[in-house]
Amino acid sequence: MIITYFGHSCFLVELGGNRLLFDPFISGNALAASVNTEAIRADYILASHGHADHVGDLEAIARRSDAVVVGAYELATYYGSKQLKYHPMNTGGYWNFGTWWVKCVPAVHSSSLPDGTYAGNPMGFVAGNNTECFYYSGDTALTLDMKLIAEEFTLVTAFLCLGDNFTMGIHDAVKAAQFVGCSHVTGMHFDTFDYIKTDHRKAHEAFGAAGITLKLPTIGESWEA
Ligand code: NI
Ligand code: MN
Repeated sequence: MIITYFGHSCFLVELGGNRLLFDPFISGNALAASVNTEAIRADYILASHGHADHVGDLEAIARRSDAVVVGAYELATYYGSKQLKYHPMNTGGYWNFGTWWVKCVPAVHSSSLPDGTYAGNPMGFVAGNNTECFYYSGDTALTLDMKLIAEEFTLVTAFLCLGDNFTMGIHDAVKAAQFVGCSHVTGMHFDTFDYIKTDHRKAHEAFGAAGITLKLPTIGESWEA
């Protein structure tokens, strides 16, 4: 799969022929000023929860791309009511879209949309196809439930929030990587705001000490995983 980082927690994952976009928040992110949001196209947009720093550009990109919005029932139907394509899910649910699949896994966080609408459960996702899969944590605390992911899946990479204050910090993200059984971590939800400024050297040291490879991607960067 080919991954592109658009800042904060926003990644485009090209899996087979599918373009999966996670938590689009780009134009509101000062650090991502170099990204041309209008050029981004997706087949599916997966939203972990409704907070503005995860859905800021969702509606515009979904409309331009004719993408299907995938997320919690309340979040997905909210965008459905704006005449966007949607697929409602909920925690624990699995769906096979034909050429790729997703399972919604627990996230310990909160979830409301920027206009105050209740957005249902916050979630993480395990997504994949016949040959590979990955975990996207969304915004979450460390939770023992992550061990269930290791029991069911062999992950190519785990996208883990690690900026602390609102989510797991570095120390808990290392444990999360161990819980989900993945030694290749892609960090997210760091540096965007003062609250989540992250010491990259400390992060690399902490993951390195646990024998885990950490990638703290540069905004705009693409790579193969
Ligand atoms: Ni959040
Ligand atoms: Mn967030």
